[in-house]
Amino acid sequence: MYPRVSPHGMTRRARTGTPRSRPRASRSVRRRPSHIRQNLRLWQRQSAWYDRHFAGVLGGRQAMAWGGWRVPESRLHALGNPRGRDVLEVGCGGARWSLALEKKGARVVGLDLSPAQLAHASRLRRRAAARLGLVRGNAERLPFAPSSFDLVFADWGGFTFADPLRTVPEAARVLRAGGRLVFLTSSPFRVLSQYRNSERMTRRLLSDYFGMHRIEYPEEVNFQLPYGEWIRLFVESGFVVEALVEIQPGPKDRSRYWSASEEAWARHWPFESLWQVRKVSAERSTGGRRRAQRRAGIRSATRSTNHVG
Ligand SMILES: C[S@@+](CC[C@H](N)C(=O)[O-])C[C@H]1O[C@@H](n2cnc3c(N)ncnc32)[C@H](O)[C@@H]1O
Repeated sequence: MYPRVSPHGMTRRARTGTPRSRPRASRSVRRRPSHIRQNLRLWQRQSAWYDRHFAGVLGGRQAMAWGGWRVPESRLHALGNPRGRDVLEVGCGGARWSLALEKKGARVVGLDLSPAQLAHASRLRRRAAARLGLVRGNAERLPFAPSSFDLVFADWGGFTFADPLRTVPEAARVLRAGGRLVFLTSSPFRVLSQYRNSERMTRRLLSDYFGMHRIEYPEEVNFQLPYGEWIRLFVESGFVVEALVEIQPGPKDRSRYWSASEEAWARHWPFESLWQVRKVSAERSTGGRRRAQRRAGIRSATRSTNHVG
């Protein structure tokens, strides 16, 4: 999951335990932006290890829990009541969140870039005899018609590994008026205070805050924005901000994902951000969304669906 799981620390551990089978890139994959190709390679390579290693904390009673400290949704109430809602999880991995939401009465689609990750989702769906839709796709070009969902969400998913200047307007496009976008990802603070090639945190600021956007790690690319840029992007895309929950682990909380250095740091400064925004209206969002898309250099809006099942 989490940037460091895959990113740095965890990636290094994953490398030792996972076969280095590299999927051959098709022509359409080669045309994707470099960060998409790089992150796809990472998730193809570490998927088996990731699913095995974290199944215990991602599934069962913790299926509906947020971030590296697995803070229960029953405590945060970030998603609201899912019953009867059309829900899209962007970067669903093994789709444990999605399957749990279906059990609560939602109609859910899980989307992921990685076929290996979707294979785990497909296996778990079969085991649960669930109806969950699974779609292979990229968070930056969602293969759905406008106004298809009431809720779009991710837990260290597509809003971490893909460019928010593209993903946030895309989420606005596929949401109905009044629908909500909720996602957990890194905080900007963490990016400023972490060594890029290790799991170590520092109390110093290691990089510029202004201009923060594409974050290069040895094996993957993440994205992050200054707080003001996030808010501008949400507003331009037609959202109002309802909440930003900054996760602070308690003294006894332990994470399976984060190193001791990260955990100690996170008790003092925000390491993970849980954004909750609501689409105001279709009309208001269209103009701003176009402006945000122009800034990201997006021209075409044609979509096709590639259902895995
Ligand atoms: C850290 S995992 C989280 C998955 C899920 N929340 C979980 O905990 O099992 C991140 C997922 O995002 C997916 N992903 C990365 N880039 C993506 C993109 N551009 N579009 C859609 N999914 C993406 C990866 O394939 C991976 O399955």
